[in-house]
Amino acid sequence: MTTDTTTRGAAPGASAPGEAVLDARGVTMRFGGLTAVRNVDLTVNSGEIVGLIGPNGAGKTTFFNCLTGLYVPTEGEVRYKGAVLPPKSFKVTAAGIARTFQNIRLFANMTVLENVLVGRHTRTKEGLWSALLRGPGFHRAEAASRARAMELLRFVGLDGKAEHLARNLPYGEQRKLEIARALASEPGLLLLDEPTAGMNPQETRATEELVFAIRDQGIAVLVIEHDMRFIFNLCDRVAVLVQGEKLVEGDSATVQGDERVVAAYLGEPFENAPGAEEVAEVEAAEAHADTPQDAAPGKENDR
Ligand SMILES: Nc1ncnc2c1ncn2[C@@H]1O[C@H](COP(=O)(O)OP(=O)(O)OP(=O)(O)O)[C@@H](O)[C@H]1O
Ligand SMILES: [Mg+2]
Repeated sequence: MTTDTTTRGAAPGASAPGEAVLDARGVTMRFGGLTAVRNVDLTVNSGEIVGLIGPNGAGKTTFFNCLTGLYVPTEGEVRYKGAVLPPKSFKVTAAGIARTFQNIRLFANMTVLENVLVGRHTRTKEGLWSALLRGPGFHRAEAASRARAMELLRFVGLDGKAEHLARNLPYGEQRKLEIARALASEPGLLLLDEPTAGMNPQETRATEELVFAIRDQGIAVLVIEHDMRFIFNLCDRVAVLVQGEKLVEGDSATVQGDERVVAAYLGEPFENAPGAEEVAEVEAAEAHADTPQDAAPGKENDR
C-alpha cells in the first residue's frame, strides 16, 4: 500500500463535492491542415475520476495540452472552477490544475526531494528578496516546503529515496515521482497522461490505489491510459476520443458495451480479456523459436 495516513485529510486544493471542477466546451485544436481535436466537450466534477481513452494519435495528449495552457485552443473555452483559464501553463498550475507527462519530464540530475520542491514553487509565497537575504521568513517557508514535500514522497512511497538522483530511479518510480511533483502544487484537478506506461502489473495496481487515494483527498482526476483494465476499474466515467472527436462518454459498462467503441478501439469486448490469448501465443512461439536456434549445429560458424 502506497498511501500514508497522515495525508488522508482533504488536500489544500480540494473542492466541494459535486462541483464542476473542469468544464471544457467546444475545444478544437488545429495544426495547419490537421484538426487534432474537434469540438470536444468534457466536464470533470469534484470527487470524480474520469478516463480519456482512444487509439494512438486520437488527440488525447493534445486535449490535455489545451487544458493546461501549453496550447491555446483554436476554438472553445476551458473553465476551472467557473473561471476561464489563462493561456499560460504556469498560470494554469497556479490556478489549480497539475499534470504529469506521457514522456516523463523530471530534472534528472536533481534529487527526488528537489524535484518535488520544484513542483512547490507556485505555492511558495516567499519573494525574491526574502530568498536572497535568507531571513527567518525564508527559512520558515523552506522548512514547511520540505516537510510537505517529504509528506508527498511518503504518500507515493518514495520517502526512502528522497536523496537519490531522479535519473537513478527505475521507470515506475519516476512515474510516481512525477505524480508527487504534480501534487506539490496543491491542485484541485490532476491530469495524468499514461501514468502506468512501462509499469509491471504490480506497479500498475499500486498506481490504481494511489489514484483512488488522491481522489479520496478531494482532488479530481482526469486520466489518459491505454490499459483498459486500469481505466475500467478506476474511472467513474470514461470518454472516448477517435480522430479528435468524442465518440462516446459514459460509465465503464456503457463504454465497454458500445459497439462503436468496440469497433474503433477495443476490437472485442473487454470481458474476454482481449489480447491475453495472443500474448500467450506469441510468447510460446518465441520460446519455440529460441530453442532450435540455440541447439542448431554449427551455429558459431554461421556468425
Ligand atoms: N505540435 C503539433 N504539431 C502538429 N501536429 C501535432 C502536434 N501535436 C500533436 N499533433 C498531431 O495531432 C494528432 C494527435 O496527437 P496526440 O499526441 O494528441 O495523440 P494521442 O491521442 O495522445 O496519441 P498517443 O496515444 O499515441 O499518445 C496526431 O496526428 C499528432 O501527430
Ligand atoms: Mg498521447
